[in-house]
Amino acid sequence: MMLTYPIFADWIGCIQCGDTKMPDYLSLLSTGARKVRPSELRELMKIIERPDMVSFAGGIPDPGLFPRAAYDECYRDALSVLNAPRSLQYAATEGYLPLREWIAEQMRSKGLTCTPDNILLTSGSQQGLELIGKLLINKGDRVCTSRPTYLGALQAFTAYEPAFDEVTGGSRDSSAKLLYVVPDFANPSGETMSAPERDALVSRAHRENSIIVEDAAYSSLRFEGADLPPIAALDVSLSGSIDTCRTLYCGTFSKTLSPGVRVGWVCGPRDLIGRLTLLKQGADLHSSTINQIATLGVAKACFEEHVTMLRGVYRARRDAMLIALSRYAPEGTAWTRPEGGLFIWLRLPQKVDASALFEEAVKRGLAFVPGAAFFPDEAERNTMRLSYSLNPEPVIDDGIRRICELISAAGDNGYARAS
Ligand SMILES: Cc1ncc(COP(=O)(O)O)c(C=O)c1O
Repeated sequence: MMLTYPIFADWIGCIQCGDTKMPDYLSLLSTGARKVRPSELRELMKIIERPDMVSFAGGIPDPGLFPRAAYDECYRDALSVLNAPRSLQYAATEGYLPLREWIAEQMRSKGLTCTPDNILLTSGSQQGLELIGKLLINKGDRVCTSRPTYLGALQAFTAYEPAFDEVTGGSRDSSAKLLYVVPDFANPSGETMSAPERDALVSRAHRENSIIVEDAAYSSLRFEGADLPPIAALDVSLSGSIDTCRTLYCGTFSKTLSPGVRVGWVCGPRDLIGRLTLLKQGADLHSSTINQIATLGVAKACFEEHVTMLRGVYRARRDAMLIALSRYAPEGTAWTRPEGGLFIWLRLPQKVDASALFEEAVKRGLAFVPGAAFFPDEAERNTMRLSYSLNPEPVIDDGIRRICELISAAGDNGYARAS
């Protein structure tokens, strides 16, 4: 199985459709759209979703843990004769005010002083990232990310043709327009930024006139250790108020309640939120009304208990994966120890190519994500992302044992990297 994908230029213009030659679509595309490539990860998901697979690949919540009964009740209520005229109707672009009030209260409880006017509801936090790219990035602007980083952010920003650089240790020849970070239990690394690193990022943004994008997708899923302040809260302290700060905080209900309802938000200075609202209007008018209303109902009914339950389940699975790695991983393998979230990042012996290893693993009904997908530039091919979210502890132990056997055998079996 080859994990390479056609570059559009190779085949557009030469496919025959009966007697009719396909139009040369490539020449019509915007330069930004030409740069967007199919996500290797989404393609992998099609293989990985086979029911016979033991998959550590999908960075998705366990569907068995969704608060289904609460959604059932809240959707029924939203569709009642009394409420349906509102839930099934068009609505304001900025989003359902009672839900923005609920989110603002949550943000304040994390130390981020804000009001509903600082919040735009989006179709998942992914839409927030896309709108931020559209708002801020001109061709050639420097966008700094960690290496590795969240692939979806790379996809969202790439269409606006930035020059990617590393957020720490990258070139400092010119200032960055945008500093994108996932500070809590990052996807894919599982790592958390320390308090001094957060402070330093805020100081840098002020010094360089940059905007920080704080992607807080996993921040509610802390299993251990003390909560750290959101970067946006540190920025508000330095700036005097949220309306003069330079951080856009992207939040989501995807990892806590449900990704399928597509409810996320951006919290930031009113000026930028207003401009993002105009861009969202052009994109989709507003996010689904009924989903916003049902999300508020579920959040009010059970958010805290539900997230407490999730933390307990994911923590036990993380522990099982860490124990299995320490038992079975061969010498020369290193991994992160996340304090929350869904991911462990593995660095394999230098000679092992994780993409080649993946092909061997799939033949044996095992899956993970080769790390190369998460680099904006030259990939570190001896890395992989493991997610512990979907499997019970005994399956994790057995799957990690088998993956580790493959890593150990890598040198002998021809999927070592050519040196
Ligand atoms: C770091 C990070 N940010 C954002 C997202 C997008 O999430 P959603 O659009 O479902 O809110 C994801 C999804 O996996 C993620 O891992």
